[in-house]
Amino acid sequence: MIQKYVFGQPVNTDAVVLDIPESQEEFSVMELTESDGIRLCCRMEEEDVVYGLGEQVRGINKRGFSYISYAEDDSIHIESRHSLYGAHNFLVLNRRNQKENPDGSRSFGIFVDDPGKVVFDVGETKRDQLVIQAGGDCVIYVIEGEGMKEIVKQFRRLIGQSYLPPKWAFGYQQSRWGYQNEEDVREVVKGHHDRGIPLEAVYLDIDYMEAYKDFTVDEKKFPEFKSFVGEMKGRGVHLVPIIDAGVKIEKGYPVYEEGVRNHYFCKDENGEDFVAAVWPGRVHFPDVLNPEARAWFGGKYEILMEQGIDGFWNDMNEPAIFYSEKNLKKVMEEVISLKDENLDIDSYFHLTGIVAGLANNQEDYKSFYHNVDGVKLRHDKVHNLYGFNMTRAAAEAFGRIAPDKRTLLFSRSSYTGMHRYGGIWTGDNESWWSHILLSIQQMPSLNMCGILYTGSDIGGFASDTTEDLLMRWLEAAMFTPLMRNHSAKGTRRQEVYQFEHIEDFRNIIRMRYGLVPYIYSEYMKAALKDEMYFRPVAFDYPEDSFAYQVEDQLMVGESVMIAPVYVQNAKGRYVYLPEEMRMIRMRSLEDLTSQVIEKGCHYIGMELNELVIFVKKNHVLPLAVLENEVLTTADLAEADIKWIGFVEEPVEYVFYDDDGISGSCVPEKDWRKVTVRKTDLVY
Ligand code: GLC
Repeated sequence: MIQKYVFGQPVNTDAVVLDIPESQEEFSVMELTESDGIRLCCRMEEEDVVYGLGEQVRGINKRGFSYISYAEDDSIHIESRHSLYGAHNFLVLNRRNQKENPDGSRSFGIFVDDPGKVVFDVGETKRDQLVIQAGGDCVIYVIEGEGMKEIVKQFRRLIGQSYLPPKWAFGYQQSRWGYQNEEDVREVVKGHHDRGIPLEAVYLDIDYMEAYKDFTVDEKKFPEFKSFVGEMKGRGVHLVPIIDAGVKIEKGYPVYEEGVRNHYFCKDENGEDFVAAVWPGRVHFPDVLNPEARAWFGGKYEILMEQGIDGFWNDMNEPAIFYSEKNLKKVMEEVISLKDENLDIDSYFHLTGIVAGLANNQEDYKSFYHNVDGVKLRHDKVHNLYGFNMTRAAAEAFGRIAPDKRTLLFSRSSYTGMHRYGGIWTGDNESWWSHILLSIQQMPSLNMCGILYTGSDIGGFASDTTEDLLMRWLEAAMFTPLMRNHSAKGTRRQEVYQFEHIEDFRNIIRMRYGLVPYIYSEYMKAALKDEMYFRPVAFDYPEDSFAYQVEDQLMVGESVMIAPVYVQNAKGRYVYLPEEMRMIRMRSLEDLTSQVIEKGCHYIGMELNELVIFVKKNHVLPLAVLENEVLTTADLAEADIKWIGFVEEPVEYVFYDDDGISGSCVPEKDWRKVTVRKTDLVY
């Protein structure tokens, strides 16, 4: 059951797709006060667990901290941060002992559809209180149902079907900020192929552009871009260019000129095009909230699609601002005035503060405007919609330019609703062990909010990776739909072939390809049925009180539980099995062993080069057996499907597969029911 409550005069965010009448009932799941915006408050019982909030820091259970929905470009993803790049204002408060609860209060889900700043204090200020603070103009949806899975499913129906990527987007992908030209890309492809390592895509980061101008390609670096894209395709490798939010201010640059001429850029308080700066220096931001400007900006992707490009990543779309013209002027004057001063504790920190405060300054976000159907909206009030609408611009254009096929698309910033148009990656993490854990913990929260196509920068974006970190991270990301190794300029090179134990890396990436039939089948089923691909363990075992404590294991698809190693030098880890399961240990696709492990907590040895997964009772999964060399997902068409699982009696597995590229899915044809017997199992 979904109840909808409207406060003030909310902006239409397009987060939801169902038209639900306003509730006539009183708002009752939380105490509501309307002063200085909307404040919702409720008591949390000791046993209550809070899940959700999408892309955020900290654990799967969100209790004990405050989270702020305000999309931010901040690359330091440490525990004390309150916001990352996305805003996903949905949580489920799971009331464990609701039957015995004297006031009859039950579990519920809540979605606060407010594109400005929203604060979720999940027991930080007071351990037993959940407080949500939103603006005065918002829509709040309260969802009740039989348990967490059901509540989430209702929410997912409300916000519409998740994005469907092409099948190739489930292969292994290599990225690095710093690949400059054709030669660099060729070397990366060769580096993988010479060693028999599958590779599906190479990413083009900002250096492919001419002076960081969107939709341009630097001809000195890529003299024949179209034929180069074709050459790479011939080797099975897709090139995926980055698109940034800011459009460089430069006379003669068509995107800039057209945008100015047609008033497609965000305006400042005087009605002039707002000037900020990002990679290219001074830029304007396309007003992607304005449908006309959105259609125009989206149409520009065709420039690259005409050259054979079929995947994009949208970046810096919080939007990130290095400085605004106006603020820079002010700060410069102040800095100059301090020249020759004897800087003391106050003036020194003031100086460093104003300089650091140039980037992503709140005052700047208050000083530009969108024009939505003639209505002027101040940016900070709708801040969280920017990345969503930039990505929507692209996806809507793909629907016009290439309607019959799926195009890869993901974004850094997002808001609920964007999941219908593309995925996200989790941004600039570090080569830290704790960020493997963070990436595990982010997955189910994102899935709850509809974002299924996602993954982290494997190996870590910033700082230098190590061989063991990269190997463990690849294992931890074995099932993430987006499996992309990405790193920052200036860090140690981290393509897998740069390391000593290439054989191990090859085996790990080949295992991924072996598992693609399961990953794709489960992903597509989850997307088409509004379900979660990654779930907290307690979602599958809600009666098991210990399952709620598990913060570093996940359920993946219908059959698998994962428990990755994320501690350096560990040769294994404790794993909690909520029921008897079959453990599959893989050293390579050809070297599998299995063992039944009983319910409980066990120390399981896991060597650096081993993948260990757990299969639920009466469940199976398809595994592609790769006879010939497999370098891409297309090669999987030839592979034999074998089954692994844990069954005594025959079970039915709904095996989803399709051509991997066409836009529509034909359920009868593609949803194949397969009966799997114990004798069919290879392990
Ligand atoms: C941002 C992105 C990162 C990219 C870099 C350069 O930091 O998050 O992935 O490599 O910009 O474009």
